[in-house]
Amino acid sequence: MNTNILDIANLHVAVGDKEIIKGIDLSIKKGEVHVLFGPNGSGKSTLLCAIMQLPGYTITEGSVHIHDTDTAELTTDAIANLGVGMSFQYPPKIKGVTLRRFLDSISQSRDLHSSIAALNMEPFLERELNVGFSGGELKRAEILKLYAQSPDLLLIDEPESGVDIENITVISNAINTILQKESPMASRERSALIITHTGNILSTVHADVGHVFMDGKIICTGNPLDIMEDIKKGGFSGCIQCIANHKEKQ
Ligand SMILES: Nc1ncnc2c1ncn2[C@@H]1O[C@H](COP(=O)(O)OP(=O)(O)OP(=O)(O)O)[C@@H](O)[C@H]1O
Ligand SMILES: [Mg+2]
Repeated sequence: MNTNILDIANLHVAVGDKEIIKGIDLSIKKGEVHVLFGPNGSGKSTLLCAIMQLPGYTITEGSVHIHDTDTAELTTDAIANLGVGMSFQYPPKIKGVTLRRFLDSISQSRDLHSSIAALNMEPFLERELNVGFSGGELKRAEILKLYAQSPDLLLIDEPESGVDIENITVISNAINTILQKESPMASRERSALIITHTGNILSTVHADVGHVFMDGKIICTGNPLDIMEDIKKGGFSGCIQCIANHKEKQ
């Protein structure tokens, strides 16, 4: 039985006529959390947008399967209904729709009181979605959206960028709750792919697998904390050197 929530094989993605993702294989099992590290412009957000089949992102080769379903012919809506939710790096502002109405429309009557309180979002419920929200408020609203959707696969793009230290803890705790981190691995139903630059989130959210993403490809996979340490010491150029050294040894 395939226990993978996500299976990506030889994925190539173009934006316009520019190839951004250049052949990626990535599988995420039920209950696993993967993190993606990579320099600016390497294609991390593009990967998440392509998984969601957002307009403007064209899969030119390869495949994405969610729960064994090939998503090639599916709309973004249908992919969300398969159980995929995305928290954006730059969330769109939606005038005329309050946060409360938005949550009502996606939460399928789930009781969100405790999650709204946990993310300190009560004061924002009657405001237009993301309009005028500060950087940290935007990120908290995005995580609240994931609570409401309750997807099997969470795609989280830079949850801690622009967020102060206390709110990083608030966001990390919320992500742990959504991912059922208090339960043993075998009984967790949800998985995540998290993009992080700072790695700050990793001190609270335990991740199982880390990947270094450069120029549209995954160039290294391993223990997320080890990878983070190496990047802090040697930067991404250190990753390139490390891979060159490994190749030389082979
Ligand atoms: N609509 C577009 N038109 C042209 N190029 C685009 C478009 N969207 C993305 N790109 C390019 O694709 C590349 C990858 O962008 P992406 O946002 O995926 O990078 P990223 O790894 O998420 O970077 P960051 O860490 O800065 O968020 C960038 O060079 C970007 O300019
Ligand atoms: Mg990005």
